[in-house]
Amino acid sequence: MHFEKRILCIGAGYVGGPTMAMIAYKCPRYQVTVVDINPERIAAWNSDQLPIYEPGLDEIVKAVRGKNLFFSTDIARGIKEAEIIFVSVNTPTKLFGIGAGRAADLQYWEKTARQILEHADSSKIIVEKSTLPVKTALAMERILNASPRPGIHFEVLSNPEFLAEGSAINDLENPDRVLIGSRETEEGRKARDELVELYAHWVPRERIITSNIWSSELSKLVANAFLAQRVSSINSISALCEKTEADIGEVARAVGMDHRIGDKFLNASVGFGGSCFKKDILNLVYICQYYGLDEVAEYWEQVIKINQYQQQRFIQKMIHAMFNTLAGKRICLFGFAFKANTGDTRESPAIFIARKLLEEQAIVVVSDPKALPNARLDLADAEGEIHYIEDPYQAAQGCHAIALLTEWDLYRHLDYEKIYRSMVQPAFLFDGRNILDHHRLFAIGFNVFPIGKPALTHF
Ligand code: UDX
Ligand code: ADP
Repeated sequence: MHFEKRILCIGAGYVGGPTMAMIAYKCPRYQVTVVDINPERIAAWNSDQLPIYEPGLDEIVKAVRGKNLFFSTDIARGIKEAEIIFVSVNTPTKLFGIGAGRAADLQYWEKTARQILEHADSSKIIVEKSTLPVKTALAMERILNASPRPGIHFEVLSNPEFLAEGSAINDLENPDRVLIGSRETEEGRKARDELVELYAHWVPRERIITSNIWSSELSKLVANAFLAQRVSSINSISALCEKTEADIGEVARAVGMDHRIGDKFLNASVGFGGSCFKKDILNLVYICQYYGLDEVAEYWEQVIKINQYQQQRFIQKMIHAMFNTLAGKRICLFGFAFKANTGDTRESPAIFIARKLLEEQAIVVVSDPKALPNARLDLADAEGEIHYIEDPYQAAQGCHAIALLTEWDLYRHLDYEKIYRSMVQPAFLFDGRNILDHHRLFAIGFNVFPIGKPALTHF
């Protein structure tokens, strides 16, 4: 089959895999290859057991894999053949040296730039997909164009990915917007138009927006910072509700009905997790400090502090409610993923909660329909007694308390009378997502502790 265009994606993770699957699905005349340095990951993408769980992903991969979607470890060949190269390698928070704990660690990013330079023998469009600090494209351009070769030009574009885990396929298929940042040069505009054309296969034109490259890089950080800020804002108010008998659900509803504010992302919780929010805000904070904007940096840093505070508050509430001792008590965690419909546990509040419970010498039983393999890795070095039991009824059996940490739908529909009868009395339920019917649970006999609402206790 002759393909109109060859596309490569470097990095087969949560972003690269689903995004390229969608491009291949929507652009049957484009050849899409995804490469990774991790051979196990590539083998998994080529098997029936994909390396990530995402509703709807299996079907799309099955429909196009081997036709115009390929997963491979041959990075050199991929680079040689492609006209457009997406880069979606990981950019974790830097753990060493200057900026440790805040700045983005760009070593994987720089390595890919050098790999492209080494293997490319024709002009390429390089697309930044990973979330990056503003001005990264400049570094990329400098590396790529350090020793110019006649007839070979590298044009760098920024095209941040806004998909959220758990709804990635829908987000990719019906994005609110696709953002493409480019240089305002002739080559920049030409490259931008090529990418617009790619997305126009399925995204309405008015949703494909273009901007200068720095605005595009910054917009991704800012979008995540705003979303995280909403969660921290509502969580901060949940603390006030618990002191005043106001109900956070009622407050969020009343506030969210103002169309200027909107009702999304106002669910109070045990705290936000995920690979992006904390990392991107830290990154934003670091950039602001770098430019001497200390007040701006402090403003955004507060979003993370409230998130930590919310998790600490949750654990303190558990200890206090359970007579100031958890030693030897069996506590079941309903959910370990950072949100529902994913097996991803990166930065999940459940990691912090589980570790704190173990420090208090509680016995921890972890239950989750998709995240147990990751939970085992996250707690591999934790000391204490931990059990991993997928079935929620078995997991809760003989426990003193349940802490619901992930809003999986299945937890809404369990037989809580049966669960209550199997637990040690008095039984406690801490709803870290406010998804359960608290009055019904109270009527069954539970002592119920929601977020930002009065506790319902029998003593
Ligand atoms: C986020 C952005 O939404 C996405 O656009 C970006 O590309 C990547 O980062 P993701 O991390 O997958 O996506 O999940 P998201 O749905 O944003 O949730 C993040 C965290 O906030 C989760 O832990 C979630 O449970 C929590 N959250 C979200 C709340 O606690 N309350 C809410 O109202 C919404
Ligand atoms: P994200 O959530 O941003 O997609 P992941 O960590 O899930 O991040 O995926 C990033 C992927 O990039 C990993 O599978 C990792 O092995 C891969 N990767 C990192 N550096 C390179 C590189 N130089 N070449 C190819 N793949 C890389």
